[in-house]
This record gives sequence, structure tokens and C-alpha cells, in this order.
Amino acid sequence: MPTSDKTILEVKNISVSFGGVKPVQDVSFKIAENSFTSVIGPNGAGKTSLFNLISGMNKVSSGEIIFNGEAIHSIHTHKIAQKGLIRTFQGAKIIKRLTVAENLMMAVQGNPGDNLSGFFRKKARREFEESARAEALRRLDQVGLSKFADEYAGILSGGQRKLLDLSRALMAKPSMLLLDEPFAGVNPTLVEKLLTVLAQLRKEHAMTFLLIEHDLETVMNISDRVIVMADGKIIADGLPNSIYENELVIDAYLGSRRKDA
Ligand SMILES: Nc1ncnc2c1ncn2[C@@H]1O[C@H](COP(=O)(O)OP(=O)(O)OP(=O)(O)O)[C@@H](O)[C@H]1O
Ligand SMILES: [Mg+2]
Repeated sequence: MPTSDKTILEVKNISVSFGGVKPVQDVSFKIAENSFTSVIGPNGAGKTSLFNLISGMNKVSSGEIIFNGEAIHSIHTHKIAQKGLIRTFQGAKIIKRLTVAENLMMAVQGNPGDNLSGFFRKKARREFEESARAEALRRLDQVGLSKFADEYAGILSGGQRKLLDLSRALMAKPSMLLLDEPFAGVNPTLVEKLLTVLAQLRKEHAMTFLLIEHDLETVMNISDRVIVMADGKIIADGLPNSIYENELVIDAYLGSRRKDA
């Protein structure tokens, strides 16, 4: 259960259209601070498109997005990130020609020592880099990637790249994280470990999570709430157990799997 009644994110009647395609249609919901909400739905339901709108990568055709009481639907994605709302990508965005640790160190902002000169400037930069590296190593350890710290990120597998992307998002110390299928291609043991890490971050840093996942079972225990999308709309929204029993969801999404089972 969320530990706060305060709304951190509110999405009000948002829609987006690209030519004739309408990936998100009149979607509304509120997210409580320090809650864990999962968004599920079949391929093409509009889940990633929804994240593109919230994170400012695409602009809404209509509607409003409010983060911590402030409208964010017209501002640049970097500004949104600076406010503490950070996302990860379904196809993890990493820089292959940098090392794994460097990929994370890039996420730390700042120009230390700019007002200093000579020796003091160099010293400030070195200290800044050292602390960024120490933080990067801590994050890598958290997701089991520390042994790759000084390898090129290009050698990582698909699943490992997703873990690196998650670590990168955490480097920015977000108050709210949008995770787009962070577990796809990650082996089950590590998925369990990651779920523990996310639960811990929620508890210790009061973080709020909105997570896209295909498999309801995976997020059943960690989620306070599950939102189900199909064809650009929300078709169900409630406690994980209620979603499992929801006829609309079974028809739109779980049905084909149950028939296969
Ligand atoms: N920029 C765009 N231009 C045109 N169509 C788009 C654009 N972005 C998304 N779409 C379309 O919107 C629909 C929803 O796509 P989206 O990627 O949001 O689905 P999803 O729920 O994330 O699917 P998946 O589970 O496969 O990741 C799809 O039909 C997609 O082709
Ligand atoms: Mg997607």
C-alpha cells in the first residue's frame, strides 16, 4: 500500500495522435506518492506511448499532466527529468563505446570547479569524478553488474543492458521512476533480485514507481495497483487480484494465454 495519500502524478484526459493512429485516447489516472503501480496490456496497447507523453518525449494532442502540482505536458523532457521524474526505455539506451561505469557516470550532472582555476579546479573535477565512479560502482553492485564496470557496454547482453539502463535511471536519484519492461530478457533469478531492489528503494527513499510489464504474475506481489491498457484506453484499474479476475482483461489480454495453458 502507498504510504502517502498525496498525489505525485496526475494524468488528465490525455490523448495523442500521429496521423490516423491514436496510441493514447483520453487516459486519466492519479498516482499516489510512494506507490507501486504496474501498467499491463497486449502489444500495441499504447503503454510505451503513454510513457513517451509523461516523460515529455512526445507532446500530448490534448489533456494535462501534473507532476508534484506542476503542469509538465508542455516542457522539455530534460526539465521533467530534473524535476525528479525519470524513465527507462524498452530498448535500453546505452552507449556501447563507453565502459559500463562510464555509462552511469554520464548520468551525473555538474561542472564542479568552474568558478575556480588551476590546481583547485582540477582537484574539484577529480573529486567529482571519483564520487561519481563510487556511486556508479554501488549501483552496478545492486544489479549484479559490477564485474563488467570497466568493460565496454557493447559487450553486455540484452538483459544486462536493461539492468544498466535501470542503474542509469537511479543515478539521477529520481523521486518517481517510469520503467518500460525492465524485466524483458532478464533471467528469472535476477528478476527476483531486481524486484527486491525496487521494493527496497521504495521503502528507503520513498520512491514512486510506474512500471510496464507484460506478465501480470511477475508484478502481482510488488504492485499496489494494476492499470490495464488496450487499444489506447484504460480498460481496468485496481488491486492486482481484481485485475486477474476481470472479464474485460481476460478477453483483451490474458484470454489467449489461458486458452494456451
Ligand atoms: N510515433 C508514432 N507514430 C505512429 N504510430 C505510433 C507512434 N508511436 C506509437 N505508435 C503506434 O501506437 C500503437 C501503440 O504503440 P506502443 O508502442 O505504445 O504500444 P505498447 O503497448 O508499448 O506495445 P508493446 O507491448 O509491444 O511494447 C502502435 O500501434 C504503434 O504502432
Ligand atoms: Mg511498449
